[in-house]
Amino acid sequence: MQTLLFLLLFSIPQSLAIMKMIQIYGKVTYGPFPITYSSSTNCESACFKLDYCILSWQTPEGSCYHYSYLDQSDTISLVKTDKTEGSIVGFKTNITGTSCPISYTSMNFKMTIPTGDTYSWNKTGNSWSFDGCRDGWKRFDRIDGITVCMSAFKIPSLRRSHAPTWCSTQKNATIVGMASIEESQWVHGQLSSTYSYYAYWVDGTLTCKLDTCDYSTLNYTDGFTTGTAALNLTTNFLVRASGNSDQVMYLTVAVLREFAPKTMYPGSGGSAADGVVCGYQLKN
Ligand SMILES: *[C@@H]1O[C@H](CO)[C@@H](O)[C@H](O)[C@H]1NC(C)=O
Ligand SMILES: *[C@@H]1O[C@H](CO)[C@@H](O)[C@H](O)[C@H]1NC(C)=O
Ligand SMILES: *[C@@H]1O[C@H](CO)[C@@H](O)[C@H](O)[C@H]1NC(C)=O
Ligand SMILES: *[C@@H]1O[C@H](CO)[C@@H](O)[C@H](O)[C@H]1NC(C)=O
Ligand SMILES: *[C@@H]1O[C@H](CO)[C@@H](O)[C@H](O)[C@H]1NC(C)=O
Repeated sequence: MQTLLFLLLFSIPQSLAIMKMIQIYGKVTYGPFPITYSSSTNCESACFKLDYCILSWQTPEGSCYHYSYLDQSDTISLVKTDKTEGSIVGFKTNITGTSCPISYTSMNFKMTIPTGDTYSWNKTGNSWSFDGCRDGWKRFDRIDGITVCMSAFKIPSLRRSHAPTWCSTQKNATIVGMASIEESQWVHGQLSSTYSYYAYWVDGTLTCKLDTCDYSTLNYTDGFTTGTAALNLTTNFLVRASGNSDQVMYLTVAVLREFAPKTMYPGSGGSAADGVVCGYQLKN
């Protein structure tokens, strides 16, 4: 009986979900922010040990380059090469399924970071590309040259005072500000509700009185959002004469059915909202 149980346990296929480096003959054709690594003898194993590293490239000349998901990579593109060229790229990827893949051609390269978020490579023919944001996070290239990734999270009854902490502890990110109408419209598209008022906290505070705001009090804390472009009172920002007094208000992106197409509203710091928008800046 014991033997039978033992055999049964072993016949259940174990599901694999482990991080590996997959090496193929290939070269980086576009990758604006390579990090030079001093040794070429352990190019890919060093990448494997570095949290930020997603890709290694060992060139025929003996140089080693690493690529980080934290950099402002427009995209990283690479292409398969002939073995004789002696150029090797290594993808950090999770292997899933019940057995080792037979060939890399059928693989989807995807790595997981400590928050549980993933980064995926996009394969087209013999090339792979990478768009700096975590899977499901939206990338915005701002007019001031800053690139951010953001994502909206539904969290019922979220107090404003808890919103920044939620982003940092759950997502290793920060509550993010809206730098343009396009950004707040994207977040607005993520809100789904039949309520007439439904809102997600975003970064930014300011004081408003009657139907005007004192923009000199506008304060962002994310460290990379500036300006009032999203706070256009005519087209995007609702301040109601009755609703706001001369006190510090906290910006939200909200479903404001009666006031379409407006997408932003200043909420009171004491009230709760339905979620938060987290983000981070890609470095260059
Ligand atoms: C990827 O691998 C890491 C480390 O082995 C593991 O913690 C994680 O759960 C895996 N992710 C997926 C989506 O399988
Ligand atoms: C993958 O790349 C193709 C071709 O460049 C593009 O059309 C497609 O939108 C990309 N997919 C993703 C998920 O980025
Ligand atoms: C959090 O993000 C920063 C960069 O934004 C990175 O340096 C750090 O390693 C991350 N920490 C964890 C635990 O993922
Ligand atoms: C902006 O807000 C932060 C956090 O609430 C605060 O520490 C800082 O003093 C504020 N700055 C200004 C100029 O109001
Ligand atoms: C608000 O948007 C309207 C319409 O696009 C534009 O004419 C106006 O200049 C904008 N106001 C500000 C302060 O940017």
